[in-house]
Amino acid sequence: MLFFKKKKTYSFMDIGLTADVHCHILPGVDDGSQSLDESVAILTELQRLGVRKVILTPHVSRTMFPNSAEDLGTRFMDFIPSLPEEIRSGMKFHLASEYMVDEFFEASPDRLCWPDGKHILIEMSYYQRSREIKDTIFNLQMDGFQPVLAHPERYVFYQKKYDKKKGVEELRDFFDAGCKLQLNIMSLSGAYGEASLGIVHWLLDHDMYSFTGTDVHSRQQIDRFTGFQLSESQLEKVRQLARNNETIFG
Ligand SMILES: [Fe+2]
Repeated sequence: MLFFKKKKTYSFMDIGLTADVHCHILPGVDDGSQSLDESVAILTELQRLGVRKVILTPHVSRTMFPNSAEDLGTRFMDFIPSLPEEIRSGMKFHLASEYMVDEFFEASPDRLCWPDGKHILIEMSYYQRSREIKDTIFNLQMDGFQPVLAHPERYVFYQKKYDKKKGVEELRDFFDAGCKLQLNIMSLSGAYGEASLGIVHWLLDHDMYSFTGTDVHSRQQIDRFTGFQLSESQLEKVRQLARNNETIFG
């Protein structure tokens, strides 16, 4: 038994991520890339690592990043032609968003989804569970959307509840409610602490993740896409998430 659970160290290339569903590469609209140069540097690295399809998911939140779908659309249309030919011809791009679920979310008409027109990426504050999260998930489903909660392993209030044996029971509620969960690649390195890594392994072992994304904000972060301590079965599960990402592009 122990033999099968033995962990080895893996890096980005071992995961086989060809389609990224979560990143902050559209420059100057959130806390991600701040310039075209930085975006090109990030994309050059992602391309080198085997990524061929990218969903840009800038933050949208009334208080921090009040981006409208229209404005993001205009910036996206300007951004793509300004990329070097090698990137433009070798990669496919789609504009979506990462929506903060707070008291303003329901009133927002913005709905920039993943390329299947159905999956919508949502997040909460790292420090406080959104009071509106349950209703929002239900209402999105009623409107025909498939909500995807970004990086469940990164929420500090869930990390505080993490138990080695029981995991975080509250995260099972998302799964049971039909909200899909998206793993951040960098979380696999333990970059967000022991409890976060514990949640990652627990969610993987219980097959509760559906997708994985880089959530990359800067060129430097890519250097940390390595040192992933995983068992063989966990690695295979992460590889399956990478394959699930591909299905979003049809
Ligand atoms: Fe993000």
